[in-house]
Formats: sequence, structure tokens, C-alpha cells
Amino acid sequence: MENLKAKIQETSAFIKERTRLNPRIGIILGTGLGALVDDIEIERVIPYQEIPNFPVSTVESHQGNLVLGNLSGKAVVAMQGRFHYYEGYTMQQITFPVRVMKALGIEVLIISNAAGGMNRNMKKGDLMIITDHINLLGDNPLRGPNDPELGPRFPDMSQAYDKELRELALNIAIEKGFYVHQGVYVALPGPNLETPAEYRFLITIGADAVGMSTVPEVIVARHAGIRVFGISCITDLAIDGVVEPVNFEEIVEAANQAEPKLTTIIKELVARIQL
Ligand code: HPA
Repeated sequence: MENLKAKIQETSAFIKERTRLNPRIGIILGTGLGALVDDIEIERVIPYQEIPNFPVSTVESHQGNLVLGNLSGKAVVAMQGRFHYYEGYTMQQITFPVRVMKALGIEVLIISNAAGGMNRNMKKGDLMIITDHINLLGDNPLRGPNDPELGPRFPDMSQAYDKELRELALNIAIEKGFYVHQGVYVALPGPNLETPAEYRFLITIGADAVGMSTVPEVIVARHAGIRVFGISCITDLAIDGVVEPVNFEEIVEAANQAEPKLTTIIKELVARIQL
């Protein structure tokens, strides 16, 4: 535990030495959704492999960069590419960057992902504001001794996804004329996609979209008292009777296509967030 705090301290000090910005909003960009970075007035880009204690991203579509800059007039720190459980990292490794962003001063975390849509109203390329999640990863980043300086032993999850931020985003979508879903995201370890029986199970337990990320970072963000906004890009449909073979390239392509809508919502949300 002391070790974790020392690492957070070392890594955040390393980053602070390389930027004058004091970001109060963190952004994690999911598979195929990294283009938002083009809208950031970049002050500093630090490749993950240069950052002490950071794991190195292994998924080819993911650029592994920490980007510091201004978006919609606010200082942000963005992760272009994230770490997944299926890559073999521990939950603590996956969520370490969230601890570091907290140490840099973030109060809000905006998190995006690519997900399979299971709700019958969904179409490929749709967006879903995450209202809640179900953790089926079979693991938890908070397992083990708890450091009360980092957060409580039993963090509350009654409103993991901040209601005010969700309402702001919903209003933005309505103003821009984008249809967005709202629903529950379920995380599985992957890396295989789900069988039709698994999709039926996931629908039955109340999930609307399924993916392999986000939940660990959100758990740690809530532990650290960070407000969270999560949004999924529906890259494939897993609706009973409509389950089609999918491959990773198609997921990335669908995410790329939906990306402009996602970028618009995030940019406007950052503009309107009151800190
Ligand atoms: N299942 C799990 N993860 C995913 C999916 C899916 O259908 N689509 C994108 N990520």
C-alpha cells in the first residue's frame, strides 16, 4: 500500500514536471475513439512508455499517450488508449492512471468505450450514456488492504455515474439532434466476444451494452471521490436473433464512424461542467 502511494507520488511528480497545466478533468478514450485528441490544444504529449510505473498498451488500435492540454477552454488530461484486463494486467495496473490523474487534481472523469448493444432499440454506431454498470469481471481493483487516504474501504456505488453530468450530456445530445440511449453497461473479462447464450443471460440481468473495460476505472474513480461520466459507442449488435459474427476491425470501424458525435458531446460537456 505504501508502495502504491509512493508510485502515485513518483508518477504524478514526473508529469507535473512536464506541464504547467493543472487539469481538473480527466478523459479516457476507448477503442477507436481517440480522435477527440485532435480537438485538444495540446500542451504536452507523453507516451506511456516514458511514464514511470505506467503499464504499456498492447492493443494495436490503441495509441498509448497521455495528452495534456486545453479542451473547450478547460485544462484536461486525456488518456489516448487504455489498459484492458484481457491484456493480462492486474486490476491495480489498469486503474493506476486514474490514481495518478486524481493526484494531478482531476475532479471529473469522462470515460468512453466501444460496446456491444443488446437493447432492441439499438443500432450500430449509436451512443449510450451509461447510467449504471454491472461488474462481471470476477475481480476488483480495490481488493486487498485499503488505504483510507486514497478512499473508503467500502465505497458507495449508489450513483456511480453522476446524475448531473448525465443530464448535461443528454441536453447536449437533444440540442445537437443526436439520439442517445441511456442504459446499463456490463463488463466481462473477454477477450472473446459473447456466445448467444451469454448475451441472453446479460440481457436478463438488466444490461443494455457489454464491453471489456471501464468498470475498473470507474470503481477506482468513485473510491477516490471523482465524479464520473461514461459513454458507450455501440459498435456491434448482440440482440437475440440478430447476433452476427463480429471481428475487431469492424468494432474499430464502427467506433470511428460514431466518433464525431461522441467528440461533440464530450467537447460540449467539458465546456459546461461546473467545477
Ligand atoms: N462484446 C464485448 N465487448 C465488446 C463488444 C461486444 O459485443 N463490442 C465491443 N466491445
